[in-house]
Amino acid sequence: MEKVQKFITEGKERFVQELFDLLRIPSVSADPAYANDVRRTAEFLAEKMNDAGLDQVEIHETPGHPIVFGEKMVDEKLPTVLVYGHYDVQPPDPLDLWESGPFEPVIKKTAIHPEGAIYARGACDDKGQMYMHLKAFEAMNTAGNIPVNLKFMIEGEEEVGSVNLGDFCKKYKDKLACDVVLLSDTSVIANDVPSITVGLRGLSYIEVEVVGANRDLHSGVYGGAVANPINILSKMIASLQDENNKITIPGFYDDVEELSKEERTAMNQAPFNLEQYKASLEIDDVLGESGYTTLERTSIRPTLDVNGIWGGYIGEGAKTVLPSKANAKISMRLVPNQHPDKITKLFKDYFESIAPLGVRVKVEPHHGGFPAVTPTNTAEYKAAEKAMETTYGKTPIPQRSGGSIPIVSLFEEVFGVKSVLMGFGLNSDDIHSPNEHYGLFNYYKGIETIPYFFKYYAELKK
Ligand code: BES
Ligand code: MN
Ligand code: MN
Repeated sequence: MEKVQKFITEGKERFVQELFDLLRIPSVSADPAYANDVRRTAEFLAEKMNDAGLDQVEIHETPGHPIVFGEKMVDEKLPTVLVYGHYDVQPPDPLDLWESGPFEPVIKKTAIHPEGAIYARGACDDKGQMYMHLKAFEAMNTAGNIPVNLKFMIEGEEEVGSVNLGDFCKKYKDKLACDVVLLSDTSVIANDVPSITVGLRGLSYIEVEVVGANRDLHSGVYGGAVANPINILSKMIASLQDENNKITIPGFYDDVEELSKEERTAMNQAPFNLEQYKASLEIDDVLGESGYTTLERTSIRPTLDVNGIWGGYIGEGAKTVLPSKANAKISMRLVPNQHPDKITKLFKDYFESIAPLGVRVKVEPHHGGFPAVTPTNTAEYKAAEKAMETTYGKTPIPQRSGGSIPIVSLFEEVFGVKSVLMGFGLNSDDIHSPNEHYGLFNYYKGIETIPYFFKYYAELKK
């Protein structure tokens, strides 16, 4: 381990430069205009995997963006760890809110990151966190110390719902066979409060359209007599939550797993400062489902949010128009036992039922995903715990996250294994937002911690 850590200490600057090169390629999976850049990113990764010493490096085509695979089979008697990550990123919009180019990485010091943080789209989610694994592997390989068999599977479609990864996993089930999946695509509570993610929320994502008259109309000539789809859509959306911020869709909460008093007390013991939280967001109060704390609202409770809404005239000045259409994108975060397809159906039926005469509504489901929970009494959890203890000097706290990584539940279904969600980012790193960043402290800490995970995992599995 000394050799491994020495290699990491000496390689730090190069590791940052390589990540910069990776961040310069705009691998936006959602926008077809970037398809070629997404492919270049896969090629860049494959090259770096070869350089790092992985074998069987391959770029697998899919109907969408490619999946990059590589492996190091040391000894079939050793346990096998499948490292999963994604090289695609969210669109950088809105561009004018970035202080430096989203694909021109720079290092800036901040109060939370006094050692500096890398600013770029994907710096944390997930290029930075994924690349840590390759550099940790390189260090172990160079030191001739790889205590497990390793497989890398890095996809380019996580941000669009991992649409082709499920089929890939099923098709190559044997090639991908493993004892556990390891990923870093989540966060820690703070740099001095390490934590391990033990839960992810599921997702149901829907697009709706409300249509009124067959064309845009003069709002003076027709206004007051013909349904305005934007007015109607606003009312319909507003009625999806009541005055206690409970979701009003009948049956929505039916399957929700209720935690015991003890479990709730335990989870609320995690360090969390509501005043700091509000101050960092410049809000005078939080708002959410009554009867639950902020930590609970962002982990064990389901939610409904409008992600985008459009229609009518939004150009310069005023145009008096009664629009013929209004649209919105709506997501619901789900918790254990809720089924994304069932929730999508409940939403669709209810939304259609509350539409007044005079408009037609269309409800189009997008991607969905199951929630996931991971146990803490397994070799893999204990290995992650010991690894973080070693590098942080503190025992990490298990914590459920509010985000979603739908493929995690599929790993369980197809490979029959659990995942370890050992992320190193911070919730304040602005993933999916302008000025996304990733602390150098976090990047290095991840690279240092990962080899210990393999070491302890191999020991505990003996
Ligand atoms: N890495 C995130 C998920 C995440 C973020 C988990 C923070 C825990 C903490 C992932 O890339 C992501 O953004 N997932 C999407 C879902 C996907 C289907 C588009 C999400 O959570 O919105
Ligand atoms: Mn991610
Ligand atoms: Mn993401």
